[in-house]
Amino acid sequence: MARLSSDAEVRQLAASSLLKLFDSLYEGAIVIDRDGRITWINDKYKALIGWNGTESIEGRAIEEVLPNSRLRSVVETGQADLLDVLELGKRQMVVSRIPLRGESGNIVGALGVILYDRLQALKPIVSKFQQMQDDLASVRKQLAERRQAKYRFSQFVGASRLAVETKEHARRAAEREGAVLLLGETGTGKELLAHAIHAASRRANGPLVSINAAAIPEALLEAELFGVEPGAYTGAGQKPRPGKFQLADGGTLFLDEVGDMPLPLQAKLLRVLQEGEVEPLGGNNLRPVNVRVIAATSRDLKGMVDDGSFRADLYYRLNVLPVHLPPLRDRREDFPLLCETLLEQIAEQSGEPVCTLAADGLARLAAADWPGNVRELRNVLEQAVARSDNRRLASADFSMLPEVNVVVGGTATVLSVLGDGTVRPLREAVAMAERTEILRALDATGGVKLHAAKLLGISRAQLYEKLSSLGLASEEPDTSGSV
Ligand SMILES: Nc1ncnc2c1ncn2[C@@H]1O[C@H](COP(=O)(O)OP(=O)(O)O)[C@@H](O)[C@H]1O
Ligand SMILES: [Mg+2]
Repeated sequence: MARLSSDAEVRQLAASSLLKLFDSLYEGAIVIDRDGRITWINDKYKALIGWNGTESIEGRAIEEVLPNSRLRSVVETGQADLLDVLELGKRQMVVSRIPLRGESGNIVGALGVILYDRLQALKPIVSKFQQMQDDLASVRKQLAERRQAKYRFSQFVGASRLAVETKEHARRAAEREGAVLLLGETGTGKELLAHAIHAASRRANGPLVSINAAAIPEALLEAELFGVEPGAYTGAGQKPRPGKFQLADGGTLFLDEVGDMPLPLQAKLLRVLQEGEVEPLGGNNLRPVNVRVIAATSRDLKGMVDDGSFRADLYYRLNVLPVHLPPLRDRREDFPLLCETLLEQIAEQSGEPVCTLAADGLARLAAADWPGNVRELRNVLEQAVARSDNRRLASADFSMLPEVNVVVGGTATVLSVLGDGTVRPLREAVAMAERTEILRALDATGGVKLHAAKLLGISRAQLYEKLSSLGLASEEPDTSGSV
């Protein structure tokens, strides 16, 4: 094997190999010396500038051959131009200019190469790059939007005493820094208020990150909350995956359905809240986080503490600023305003004209029980709007609700329903309404409980509980719901 005897020889070889490579790779290459005279030019370049073979090009001043050349300034300044556009007659070419240095680092000349003989050639690359930039920007925007509050206090509709008090408590909580606990049945607006509190807090410019402890399988919840170090478990990947706590750093973490959090995770959550540090799975690094927690639950958290299924210490840690959300049936005065707002929202979403309520329609709505609260009310209004040909929804458009026998007479009707309409024990009336609604949901979903629960705005577990307490539970296990 031939051996390379000196540094100089290596360089020489490298340089000539490179020139050969340029010769084949690029559309043209040219070299000038320190005085700006051409010392070498390849055939492609010659062809490009239309140089006929008879006269020698070497030894001429660069500008004599290429009037717009900037190679001389590369020699003078020693600065490379890695990407530039050179005009040659009517053509535009993408070029690169590099100073050539001798042994001692002094400039001995410059090399110019034509990367593409047409600017057009860069178009696919430029447009691909542009596309990537656009995609990145839109993903970033989506992420940022997802981490921003979607609701403000003004969107929590209600002028009843209970609604006003709730809002007042929530506003006060927004001004402070402690943990907030939102307590209320499903569909009462806990998520709405969590967003509003974040938006009105000092952390409004920070992220709002949400996690629902009931919606995420227990096995994944820990990783979702606290993050994962690379290689923490098989398939964990090589990059660290930030947990929700880290994503919420500097902002707010909305811990929805916190009552559904398993006990071991409750312990870990408590530690994070006490120490202000998270420990991702599979690592022993503690990362400091600055997060305000807003927790919510539709469960009786105090009762869970008493029966040992929720840690008392965590309960007190979360319950610094409690906010109770009233069920819809306790603030029936809000029906007219609430229905109006919801009907406007529904119209806006579908692009159709806004529907209004006839007095008997409103009366029927206000008299119903609403275990699913505002969410359920919204669903019922949506169904009625979709099914009805009338723009003014009457009692008959709400056949999914129990009937009320009232003499129609404007607002007075509503009040009579609210006040002294029914003389049935409340427990019985509630059970009846629940029963009707659940049977209807099961009917509509062909008995698939998961879907029925969704329609009803409750969890599958809650549906099972209700079915058994209403004596509707079937013997066979529900396999259809596992879709
Ligand atoms: N007071 C309210 N005013 C207007 N809309 C409400 C109100 N409370 C709840 N909603 C609406 O009802 C639906 C359910 O509210 P959400 O905040 O998800 O309830 P929760 O988290 O308590 O189950 C959402 O569409 C929400 O916008
Ligand atoms: Mg919710």
